[in-house]
Amino acid sequence: MTTSLPNTSALNDIARALVAPRKGILAADESVPTAGKRLAPVGLENNEENRRLYRDLFFTTKGIGDYLSGVILFEETIGHKANDGTPFPQLLAEHGVIPGIKVDKGTVALAGFADEVITEGIDGLRERLQLFAKQGMKFAKWRAVILIDEKKGLPSEPCMRSNAGLLARYAALCQEAGIVPIIEPEVLYDKGNHSIEVAEQVTTAVLERVFEVVEAHRVDRSGLILKTSMVLAAQGFDGAQSTPEEVAAATLRCYKASVPADVGGIVFLSGGQSAEMATVNLAAVNALRAKENASAKSGLQGAAPYPWEISFSYGRGLQGEALEIWAGKEENKQAAQAEFLKRLQSVSKARDGK
Ligand code: G3H
Repeated sequence: MTTSLPNTSALNDIARALVAPRKGILAADESVPTAGKRLAPVGLENNEENRRLYRDLFFTTKGIGDYLSGVILFEETIGHKANDGTPFPQLLAEHGVIPGIKVDKGTVALAGFADEVITEGIDGLRERLQLFAKQGMKFAKWRAVILIDEKKGLPSEPCMRSNAGLLARYAALCQEAGIVPIIEPEVLYDKGNHSIEVAEQVTTAVLERVFEVVEAHRVDRSGLILKTSMVLAAQGFDGAQSTPEEVAAATLRCYKASVPADVGGIVFLSGGQSAEMATVNLAAVNALRAKENASAKSGLQGAAPYPWEISFSYGRGLQGEALEIWAGKEENKQAAQAEFLKRLQSVSKARDGK
C-alpha cells in the first residue's frame, strides 16, 4: 500500500503542462452509456467497434498536438488501437499529448434526496490508480453533478457536501499515486431554468465547499486541476441567454470568491453549450482575465486578481461538429477531421482570450 507524500513539484509540472498557453484538454472519456447518447443521433449503434472508430477519428487527426495538452480517456480506450494498429496511448504520446483517465463510475441517485445524484467509484480506487499509473496515465478525472432547482431548494447541502467529500478523497488518492486529479463539480447548464445570478451563487457555494474539504484532506492544490461549468443562465432560462461579457464577469467573480490562488489550473467543460458558444465564452473569460490582471499590475493593487491559467476540457464542444459530418462513414473522415482541427484552432485562440 502506498501512503507516501506526493511529489509536489512533479504534480505541479503536469498540471501546468495541461493548461499551457494555446492548449487545452479533449474530454474523450464518454462512458459506454454516454457514448451511446452521442452516437445515436448520427445513426450509429453503441458497440465497442463504433466507440473505437469514434476515438480513432479524433486521435488520428494530424496536428492535434499543437492545440491539445491532454486527452481524457475512458478505461476501455486504453486497450484500443487506431485503424493502423497503433495503441491509442502510444499514438497520443506521438502527438506529444498527455494521456489521462476518467476514474469515476458515474452517478446514482442520492438516497433521501430525490432528483440529486452522487458519484460512485471510490471503492478500490487506490488499486485502480496504481494500475493506471503503470499504464502511463498522468492525470485523472472525477465528475460530480449538481442540479439547480430553485422551487425544490436544490442543490441541497448534503448533496454539495457529499460530492465535495468524494472529490477530495479521490484527489488525495490520485496524488498518492503520482497522478494529477481533475476535480469536476459540474453545475448543470442543460437542465433547469435558473438565471445567471443563481448559477453564480450556486457555483460559488459548491466551490467553497469543495476547497474546504480539499484543504482538510491535505490535497496539494498546486497539483490539481479544477474543471467547472462556466457561470451562465440555464439553457431553459425564461429570459435572455447570458452574453459572453456577462459570463466572463460572473465566472471570474465566482472564482475570485471561491478558488484558492495556488490551484494548478482551471479548465471548463462545455456542458451542452454549442461549440461556438463555448468558444466565444472562453475567449471572453480570458480576455477579461488578461485585462484585469494587467490593470492590477500597472496600478496599486499589485497581485493579479486571477492568478490561474484558464483553459478548456471540452467533449461535445470539440467533437460535436466533426461527429455530425463523420456519421461513421469512412468517406467523410477527412472532412470531419478538418472540421475538428478548425474547431481546435478557434478554441486554442479563445484560450488565449482571442
Ligand atoms: O464531464 C464532462 C466532460 O468531461 C466534458 O464534456 O464538454 O461535453 O460537457 P462536455
